[in-house]
Amino acid sequence: MENILLFIESNHSQYLSELKELLAIPSVSSQSERKPEMHRTAEWLKNHMTNIGLQNVQILETEGHPVVYADWLGAAGKPTILIYGHYDVQPEDPVDLWKTPPFEATERDGHLYARGAADDKGQIFIHLKALEAFLKNGGTLPANIKIIFEGEEEIGSEHLSKFIADHKDLLKADLIVISDSDFFAKGVPSVTYGLRGISYMEVEVTGPNSDLHSGSFGGSVHNPIQALTEMIASLHDNNGRITVKGMYEDVRLLTKAERAAFKKLPWNDRKYAKSLGLKQLYGEKGFTTLERLWARPTLECNGIWGGYTGEGAKTVLPSKAFAKISMRLVPDQSSAKIAKLFEKHIKAITPKTIDVKVRDLHGGDPVLTPIDSPGVQAAVAALEKGFGKKPLYQRDGGSIPIVVDFKRLLGIDSVLLGFGLPDENAHAPNEFIDLDNFFGGIKTAAHYYNELPQFWKNKKKR
Ligand code: BES
Ligand code: ZN
Repeated sequence: MENILLFIESNHSQYLSELKELLAIPSVSSQSERKPEMHRTAEWLKNHMTNIGLQNVQILETEGHPVVYADWLGAAGKPTILIYGHYDVQPEDPVDLWKTPPFEATERDGHLYARGAADDKGQIFIHLKALEAFLKNGGTLPANIKIIFEGEEEIGSEHLSKFIADHKDLLKADLIVISDSDFFAKGVPSVTYGLRGISYMEVEVTGPNSDLHSGSFGGSVHNPIQALTEMIASLHDNNGRITVKGMYEDVRLLTKAERAAFKKLPWNDRKYAKSLGLKQLYGEKGFTTLERLWARPTLECNGIWGGYTGEGAKTVLPSKAFAKISMRLVPDQSSAKIAKLFEKHIKAITPKTIDVKVRDLHGGDPVLTPIDSPGVQAAVAALEKGFGKKPLYQRDGGSIPIVVDFKRLLGIDSVLLGFGLPDENAHAPNEFIDLDNFFGGIKTAAHYYNELPQFWKNKKKR
């Protein structure tokens, strides 16, 4: 291992210049005009993965954006790790709020700024560099490796389930490792064992059959924006609970032990509020912030539009108004069921003055992964070696929809070994990756491949 770690230490600047190339391609999966960029990114990865010595490198088409696959299966008798990650990124807007251009990665104060730096190109690159360190120093890996990098995670991995179902043999593995989550805080490494699910909905309301003069018609017509905002406002009660009927039916309550474990984590509400520029936090009564973030369902309006929003004033009573509303889900909620309950509830609260349409944009189920598995125990050991500190266990509020499908379709558990930080501005302007975590992540990933076989063997003995 010495020579591997030394190799990693001595190649930092090379890693950064390569990662900058990957970050320069605007692989925004949600925008159809960026489709060629998705292919360019897949090609870039394919070339890079070939150059570092991986085998069977191929771009596999799906009904959506392509998947990049590679493997190295020369470690006879050793377990096989399937590394999953995503090369797609969220849109860069609002672009004016970026201090440096989102697709020109820039180093500042120990951070590398660019869209996708942390979520998730920087984190998939951590694995490629760890693998390269082995392949260029002896030419073998301590475990068998398969890799799939997809291009639709940020839009709900819509076509990946079918891809997995169609490629069960190709993807056969002992465990999955995903680096697309966060440390608890800088200097506080963690292993994530739970993620929330999601139901993402769009609501369209229609009032009059045309935009109207707000003077000539105001007073006789229920403004669709008013009607929609009244409906949205009613989706929470005064205790911060969601009012959608049936919302809490399947919510698994936190155990006493888990609540106690959350309370032991180094958390401070006041500091957290301050870091967000808030005078006060908001959330469901009766739960701590971490409980609300990790183990309680929430409902957010992600965007709302309608009427006139251009320069100056225009007096108009609009015909339509829209909102994008997502709900984060926890065990044992099902995103399909919640989507139906939401639609039913919205229809029930729609006033007679307007018509409503509800669309289900995407969904994914919540997940809890076992923490006593050899895959997780190897992650604990690797993090301790890579960052010099024992990691803590945490859940998180974000979603990686495909984790549930890996279990359902392949029967394989995932290990969430993320190297991001909660304040890295993922999905927001000025996203960055912390460079200590990036380089520490490469060392940790190398330790992980090296440690896993031993942990795996011990499991079999038990
Ligand atoms: N990396 C995130 C998920 C995440 C964030 C995990 C924070 C743990 C901590 C991932 O790329 C993401 O953003 N997922 C989307 C999924 C959605 C579009 C279906 C999300 O959570 O919004
Ligand atoms: Zn993301």
